[in-house]
Order: sequence, then C-alpha cells, then structure tokens
Amino acid sequence: MSQLSLDFTGKVALITGGGSGIGRGFALQLARCGATVAVTDLDGAAAEAVAGEVEALGARSLSAAVDVADAAAVQAAADRTIERFGQLDFVFANAGVLGPAEYLDITPADWDLVLDVNIKGVVHTCRAAVPHLIERQQGRILITASYNGVRAGAHVIPYRVSKAAVLMYTRCLALVLAPHNVTVNAICPGVTLTPMQLAYAEKTAEERGITTEEYLADRAAKIPMQHFTGIEDLTDWRSFSCRTAPG
Ligand SMILES: NC(=O)c1ccc[n+]([C@@H]2O[C@H](COP(=O)([O-])OP(=O)(O)OC[C@H]3O[C@@H](n4cnc5c(N)ncnc54)[C@H](O)[C@@H]3O)[C@@H](O)[C@H]2O)c1
Repeated sequence: MSQLSLDFTGKVALITGGGSGIGRGFALQLARCGATVAVTDLDGAAAEAVAGEVEALGARSLSAAVDVADAAAVQAAADRTIERFGQLDFVFANAGVLGPAEYLDITPADWDLVLDVNIKGVVHTCRAAVPHLIERQQGRILITASYNGVRAGAHVIPYRVSKAAVLMYTRCLALVLAPHNVTVNAICPGVTLTPMQLAYAEKTAEERGITTEEYLADRAAKIPMQHFTGIEDLTDWRSFSCRTAPG
C-alpha cells in the first residue's frame, strides 16, 4: 500500500461499516496517519477486530456494533466517541449494502433495506456529528457513494437509486456546512474487490454457469483501465481530502 506523509495526530475519526472492505482499509490508513479511530459496524465482532488492528498500529480506538439505519444507535456511537476522545474531526459515512441485482427479484422489503442503510444511514451518521462539528467550526465529512450512483443500469436498481440520492445529499449538506468551515465530500469508487463485491461475483458467476475467476476476468476487461479499484486508491484519496482539515 502506498504511504502518504500525512500527520493526523490529535484528530479523531468515526467510521461506519468499518469492519470490512473499504471501511476497514480507511480505518487502518487513518491509524497509520496517527488518527484515533472509532470503528463501527453492524457486525460488532468485525468492528472490534478492526479496532484491534488500529491499536496494533499504535493508534487509539474504540469499537461499537451500530446499525446505521438506527438513528439513535448512530447518535450513541458519535456521543461515546466525543465523550471518550474529547472531539470528532472526521466522519466517514461508509456503510452500505448492495441488495438484489435482478429487477423482478426486488421486493418492497429490499427497497426498505437498501434505502434505510444506504441513504438514511448516511443521513443519520452525518446528523449525529453535525452539531458538534458546527460547534467546533471545523470538520470533514466523507461519504462513500458509488459509480452506480451516476450510471444507469438494468441491475441493482435500488442500490443505484440510493447512491444517486447520497450524491445529492452530499451536495446539499456541503452547502449547509460550508459557512461553518466543514466540508462534505463523496467518492464514487469503481469496482473494488471487497467481500461485498466478491459475494456478488460468486452469485452472478453461478447463475451464468461460469467460474468466479471467469466472471471477474470478463468484468475487469470491461473496465476502461482493465483492472479493479484498489482499496488503497480510495483511502489515499480520502486521506488527501482530510489533509485540508484546519488546526
Ligand atoms: N466494493 C465496491 O466495488 C464498491 C463500489 C462502490 C461503492 N462501494 C461502497 O463502499 C461501501 C463499503 O462497501 P465494501 O465494498 O467495503 O463492502 P463490505 O461488504 O466489505 O463492507 C461493508 C460493511 O458495511 C457493514 N454494514 C452493512 N450493513 C450495515 C448497517 N446497516 N449498519 C452498519 N454497517 C453495515 C457490513 O457489515 C460490512 O462490514 C459501501 O457503501 C458500498 O456501497 C463499494
């Protein structure tokens, strides 16, 4: 993984969906840069394991089992982070779910889950931190959207709709918080081989009667640069974005 000479000593970050994939990668990158990282995830054991990795890198951490669809649970995690570490500087609204791929398979419950986690979860996460960031007149919010939020397609429609909504929310919240010296940004990762993406690849390959390796090779060939996004590509970008934080 490439290393940036960024010093986040004294900064405190809260991340959702930090127990796996992109969230875990970013938690570790922040820790390498000296930040304290509160790792939250629906899977409390996964969050705890990543918090352990953060501490093994010499950074302070806490972990919490948090469902981002539950506004009170997200608020409690933000409050606990501020109480324990005295402040919050970076908020990473990262948790997400993919939902069903095929249009005819999608149930009303699927729509509820994807929208509750991917858009309302982002709203709850930001809302839990915003009063504190305004009070301190500084902070950085980073949201994980997706390339699927800007590109139409016949598959994973609730996911695409949720990520498109997240992008509009990002723009609107950025206008609300700009006067308070708080920036709000989203990234739209390309296909990144995390557990979420690998599970999708395995299922799709099985449906098509091909191996997962064949499916992934075909998918990579369709990407203009012909390779998947690396987690370090995303974490480096986000670290750069945080670097502009004042103080
Ligand atoms: N992997 C990709 O190709 C890709 C591309 C674009 C965007 N993304 C986005 O990146 C983010 C991270 O995904 P990933 O690829 O690392 O997947 P992942 O499955 O490896 O990690 C997602 C994490 O979110 C957690 N989570 C799920 N539901 C939750 C909930 N209700 N509350 C709290 N945590 C919850 C999971 O337990 C998991 O640890 C997601 O928002 C996803 O939509 C991923």
